[in-house]
Amino acid sequence: MEMVLPLVLVLVFSLTSQIEAELQVGFYRDKCRAESIVKDEVEKAFDRDRGIAPGLLRLHFHDCFVRGCDASILVDSTPMNVGEKDGPPNVNTLRGTEVIDSAKARLEAECKGVVSCADTLAFAARDAVEISNGFGWSVPAGRRDGRVSLASETLDIPAPFLNLDQLTQSFAKKGLTQEEMVTLSGAHTIGHAHCTSFSNRLYDFNASSSQDPSLNPLYAEDLKRQCPRGPQGTVDPNLVVDMNFSPAVMDSSYYTDVLHHRGLFTSDQALTTSQATARQVTTYAVNRLLWESEFAKAMVKMSQIEVLTGTDGEIRTNCRVINNYN
Ligand code: HEM
Ligand SMILES: *[C@@H]1O[C@H](CO)[C@@H](O)[C@H](O)[C@H]1NC(C)=O
Repeated sequence: MEMVLPLVLVLVFSLTSQIEAELQVGFYRDKCRAESIVKDEVEKAFDRDRGIAPGLLRLHFHDCFVRGCDASILVDSTPMNVGEKDGPPNVNTLRGTEVIDSAKARLEAECKGVVSCADTLAFAARDAVEISNGFGWSVPAGRRDGRVSLASETLDIPAPFLNLDQLTQSFAKKGLTQEEMVTLSGAHTIGHAHCTSFSNRLYDFNASSSQDPSLNPLYAEDLKRQCPRGPQGTVDPNLVVDMNFSPAVMDSSYYTDVLHHRGLFTSDQALTTSQATARQVTTYAVNRLLWESEFAKAMVKMSQIEVLTGTDGEIRTNCRVINNYN
């Protein structure tokens, strides 16, 4: 009897660790030069356009929040199917898909049908952070690519006008905590946003206030100058603004912005609306290293949402097209 309990415990522990270890760091070790090819392509693209780094990071997030991290976001629409790319949160705002294409082309040339598009995107997101004056982490790999991509399912991606409860629920639905939501929101320290993603906060906000009172007035003036209203009262949908004053640097200045009511979206400013989340914002604003290590951990967790492994899914040949087995 005394021997049975430890044995059961060992069994239980090895089973749970197997479930968690479905993906492995170094999955392509000595195979296809996978991680170095991806890094090389990200670096080459970054030298031409620094905007691909935020683009790749956001692509990975949007991929993981719809049907898990299965590269479903990379599939082009066809006459028969409107893909995720053309869903409201994605259409006209995605950047970096061509970097995945060039990496994947080289990977297929190096060793055909081995490296998934989903893993390529997960590696590229990590490399994008690293190259933006940031930090890296080990990416567990072994994801396989999905065979379904539906614009209608992009409703799972949180919208910029959500409040704190709604954001928390949106992340909880994907197995992420409120703390991880606050940590991952720091990704908004790099990149740009279209004026139309926040112009509701600048003009005709609500019945009692023309602009969002939670927005720093000076910052609001600055944003209005960059996002003017035309004669029809609308804002040019092509205009973009930087996320913050250092839009190419992966630092924790996002949290300083939020503390000073310079969060760009309602969802950014929402992080100061509870004591617990406001405390976390304050901590990260002054402790970049803590944010970095928690961001890396949260990314590893996000990048394992509902992944396909083993013989599920497929290894797509072209990340834009579901394989055709006829
Ligand atoms: C918390 C909920 C979130 C909301 C509501 C949200 C919303 C948005 C919106 C509306 C944009 C601007 C898109 C545009 O107008 O072009 C944006 C950009 C961006 N988001 Fe988020 N996001 C969230 C979380 C995240 C997370 C978790 C990540 C990554 C870990 C992320 C990474 C980015 C990046 C890097 C950009 C800049 C993209 C570029 O420069 O092309 N976001 N986000
Ligand atoms: C307008 O927005 C502010 C800030 O969100 C809020 O406190 C106020 O109640 C709103 N007023 C109306 C009439 O909706």
